Amino acid sequence: MSFTLNSRFLRNVMRRGKMPDSNSQISIDPLTPHIGAEVSNFQIAEPMDQSRFGQIHAALMTHQVLFFRNQEMTLDQQKDFARQFGELHIHPGIPGPEGHPEVIAIHTDENSTRIAGEDWHTDVSCDAAPPLGSILHMHTVPKTGGDTLFASMYAAYEALSEPMQTMLGGLTARHSGEMAYRGRYAYRGVDDADLVYPNNDHPVVRTHPVTKRKSLYVNRIFTEAINGLTPTESDALLQFLYLHISKPEFQVRFRWQPGSVAFWDNRAVQHYAIWDYFPQTRSGYRVTVAGDPPY
Ligand SMILES: [Fe+2]
Repeated sequence: MSFTLNSRFLRNVMRRGKMPDSNSQISIDPLTPHIGAEVSNFQIAEPMDQSRFGQIHAALMTHQVLFFRNQEMTLDQQKDFARQFGELHIHPGIPGPEGHPEVIAIHTDENSTRIAGEDWHTDVSCDAAPPLGSILHMHTVPKTGGDTLFASMYAAYEALSEPMQTMLGGLTARHSGEMAYRGRYAYRGVDDADLVYPNNDHPVVRTHPVTKRKSLYVNRIFTEAINGLTPTESDALLQFLYLHISKPEFQVRFRWQPGSVAFWDNRAVQHYAIWDYFPQTRSGYRVTVAGDPPY
């Protein structure tokens, strides 16, 4: 299967080309007390001044994942927006569309046998410096289904008892690209026989470099084991943490529409892509912002 740009979608973007008034006030409407906010009066395709960048950045720091509706943009415009937040990340296992190595085509249809991200995870946590965040723009969505769940790892950490927080605070865990990716994208035509996937240790509790808040940083897709524990101890502790982080109290659930965008802070949230819409099509593009080594 090959992935090419959705040319009809891009032609529509070029033809309409109408942008809202850049002076209109950005609205930030929280969706839950712990996580998620909907942003309106803001077009990602539009050049952003310092004031508007400051408002979006501050909202992301507070709410951890931002949702935007009715966004029209080219891949270049999506990348330009992402670059305001940092260098762009290139995925270790998924080649981008022609001319856009920093873009991941997200696509599921009647021929799909699996999808990426169908379990709780942070993106590419096997990297030494995992991504800061991801910006996903959907252009084709099923009539119903295909929602994405996001969970605040701040809220999950803060809900733990102090003795548990203290114990976890001294631990690191192994994050394995090999475990997560080997053979995973064969269904997309990716032959990874010659690829070496990254494996790295990260703290089980990380400190956000901007907000300084602490969050849980182990996830089902990438975390292989907690270092220094016996395999039985590590498995038991990880299973407890995975159960804990999946509590609905820490979550927001986003229902996509054509043109919706989600921008999540990969340092503070985990997400879960729900595949309940087979054989319908769900399709979009993700641009990922590079991050720093967790501490
Ligand atoms: Fe993901």
